[in-house]
Amino acid sequence: MKKKSPSESKTEMTLMMLPSDANPKGNVFGGVILKYVDLVAGIVSKRHARNTNCVTASIDRMTFLKPVYIGNALILSARLNYVHRSSMEVEVTIEAENLDDGTRVRTGTAFVTTVALDKNGKPTEVPQLVLKTADDRKRFKEGYARMQSRLKEAGKI
Ligand SMILES: CC(C)(COP(=O)(O)OP(=O)(O)OC[C@H]1O[C@@H](n2cnc3c(N)ncnc32)[C@H](O)[C@@H]1OP(=O)(O)O)[C@@H](O)C(=O)NCCC(=O)NCCS
Repeated sequence: MKKKSPSESKTEMTLMMLPSDANPKGNVFGGVILKYVDLVAGIVSKRHARNTNCVTASIDRMTFLKPVYIGNALILSARLNYVHRSSMEVEVTIEAENLDDGTRVRTGTAFVTTVALDKNGKPTEVPQLVLKTADDRKRFKEGYARMQSRLKEAGKI
């Protein structure tokens, strides 16, 4: 299977936050942000592992560092850090942009693990990552360490 670089699947998604996304004070619900985190991680995974069904196995604990309000643009930047046999770690950086003055704040980072499934619903091999830059190699090494912790926590190793 041909190796692929993280830049081939990286994805940025921008959405306007609407009243239906928020509580009565205008704060966007964490669950709404998580929905889009899950969605963008799914797109990255599908772009990497074409022709498979990519499902979310886990999302690491995440903290909402700053509020996102109705009328803000929610900007999600997602890329692969680490790939094993069928599993992929996608890092999603979450920012809120005030569309009036253009200021942007980082509101959190999420690590999503997805698994590629074949037509029978069984985990299936995905392309390995080409690590071109020092940053790619650093992310891969850190992704490996996080995956080991996750699997320990899940009682898989
Ligand atoms: C994710 C899922 C396919 C894993 O199935 P499984 O029977 O545990 O499969 P395996 O033990 O063979 O593991 C398959 C891969 O998943 C990884 N994995 C399994 N559980 C994991 C977890 N909790 N966190 C991270 N990775 C996990 C394994 O490390 C393995 O990766 P590898 O092939 O790269 O080495 C299965 O738990 C599932 O279908 N979950 C529901 C997914 C879903 O519907 N998500 C949407 C939200 S409800």
